[in-house]
Amino acid sequence: MEKTFVMIKTDGVERGLIGEIIGRIEKKGFKITKAKLFQPSRELVENHYIEHKEKPFFQELVEYIIKGPVMAMEVEGETVVETMRIMIGDKDPKKAQPGTIRGDFAYSLTQNIIHGSDSIESAERELKLWFS
Ligand code: PPS
Repeated sequence: MEKTFVMIKTDGVERGLIGEIIGRIEKKGFKITKAKLFQPSRELVENHYIEHKEKPFFQELVEYIIKGPVMAMEVEGETVVETMRIMIGDKDPKKAQPGTIRGDFAYSLTQNIIHGSDSIESAERELKLWFS
């Protein structure tokens, strides 16, 4: 069964959206097979976003993810990688469709509530990073 990595970012946790987001994942028929609520280290988050290291937003992104607890999850189901990305919506909240998590709740490009792996390869890398 396919697996993906989903993280409710610090603003999602702060705003009390864990229940809402987990509810959407479960109602869709996916299984949350691992979950961890904790404050990640700078090293872990820099490694997670390593492909964006040279981007101008990298430092701001890392500071935002390490400022408090995040909810890291392994989610399992058929075509879960692609389907979770659709359920999450565009990273830019102005473009995210209503009905998607970001479309319904996000208002900032940097603080956009949730992350989902963008490919099966990324999911494998990210799950190993966050859960071993
Ligand atoms: S890019 O820039 O097109 O390669 O972006 P992408 O591969 O979609 O992922 C970028 C991740 O960084 C987060 N982020 C931002 N992206 C673009 N611009 C700004 N200012 C920015 N700030 C943060 C974006 O949400 C992606 O993170 P995840 O956690 O994967 O959604």
